[in-house]
Amino acid sequence: MKNLVNHLHAFVNETSITTEEWMKTIQFLTTVGQTCTPIRQEFILLSDVLGVSALVDAINNPPVKGATESSVLGPFFTEDAPDIEQGGSIASEGKGQYMYVEGTVRSTDGTPIPDAVIETWEADESGSYDTQYKDRDHPDCRGRLRTDKDGRFGYRAVTPVAYPIPGDGPVGELLITIGRHNLRPNHLHFMVEKSGFRKLVTSLYPDGDPFLSTDAVFGVKKNLVVKLEEVNDDAEARKRGFPKGGSFKLLKYDVVLVPLDEAKAALEEFSKQRAKNAAA
Ligand code: BEZ
Ligand code: FE
Repeated sequence: MKNLVNHLHAFVNETSITTEEWMKTIQFLTTVGQTCTPIRQEFILLSDVLGVSALVDAINNPPVKGATESSVLGPFFTEDAPDIEQGGSIASEGKGQYMYVEGTVRSTDGTPIPDAVIETWEADESGSYDTQYKDRDHPDCRGRLRTDKDGRFGYRAVTPVAYPIPGDGPVGELLITIGRHNLRPNHLHFMVEKSGFRKLVTSLYPDGDPFLSTDAVFGVKKNLVVKLEEVNDDAEARKRGFPKGGSFKLLKYDVVLVPLDEAKAALEEFSKQRAKNAAA
């Protein structure tokens, strides 16, 4: 609280904010709160577009060599994703272009990790999450699966598309006022957990999206950008369980988790480094 008050006072001093501006700020924050509902969190959105969520993530999950980096959670994760089998689908038919996701979950020393829990979710082809539909009666474009004995996972999904973060509230208005767009580049969310390892919350971002360099919530990291393969093989599409066959995109990615002792050491080292930089 002492730090917060000091910084707040410094901000007021530095900007010589007027009484009207401060009242407008309070009104804005009031509207942000009033826009929140049980399934809409406008304060998280505000934290996201200000880059605070990405910063909190960065200082709490410092990168570890060879490990998959984290990215913002966002407001669309839900607890009710269905369990799916290996090779199963997270999306119902007609939710978008076919994509198959496969890989292995490993530790930083390369050892495969069996029985890791993967939660994965994404927007559909029109750029909406299931929770954004008023008539949502079941979860869609989300699922939970476990890696097999060799640490492998595979599932059917839809090819991600870029989409706008909610723009009909005060945060959307703020972005318009300051001349920023509200788009996120195409991505697929993951949360991977296994005891003894740092929990990973991240997303993979297929390359070629024009919004990769201007993500509205600062979630993109270079090594989270991936290449999708195009598989034009009707028989292969059917073999993988795509009902209409034809072609599909293939996303191959090995997730690398950080053992807790390495995560702790990385956090200590990163904190020391930051303190040193702050003092310089
Ligand atoms: C998302 O990727 O789901 C997301 C992240 C931050 C704000 C809005 C959406
Ligand atoms: Fe998202």
